[in-house]
Amino acid sequence: MNDPLFAGINRVKDPKALTDLEKKHQPTIAAPAQVKAREPFAVTITVGQSMPHPDEGGHWIQWVELYAGEAYLARADLSATVSGTPVTFTLKLNQDTDLVARARCNLHGIWENRIPIKVE
Ligand SMILES: [Fe+2]
Repeated sequence: MNDPLFAGINRVKDPKALTDLEKKHQPTIAAPAQVKAREPFAVTITVGQSMPHPDEGGHWIQWVELYAGEAYLARADLSATVSGTPVTFTLKLNQDTDLVARARCNLHGIWENRIPIKVE
């Protein structure tokens, strides 16, 4: 992607061979593969599912955002030591899309992941 708005976003390079940095920062999206149009469902985003990310004073996940494609949906701002992921949002969609999660580590930048979701 050449859009400068997304130039600084990190993504896993090889999903079959994650580095430790990728394991600690990749947001994982848990959602149904298929949902009914305009009916609420839960989407849970977890950072560091396969290798815990530190959540301490000088190093933590500052926020998590959720998008439908490039359309902004929701954001959770997190504290350094008290709050963290997983974060769950409730959505209602009316068409097929990619759910895109972005999470920002204060030291290691923005990390993105996406999954397709079908709407019937
Ligand atoms: Fe980090």
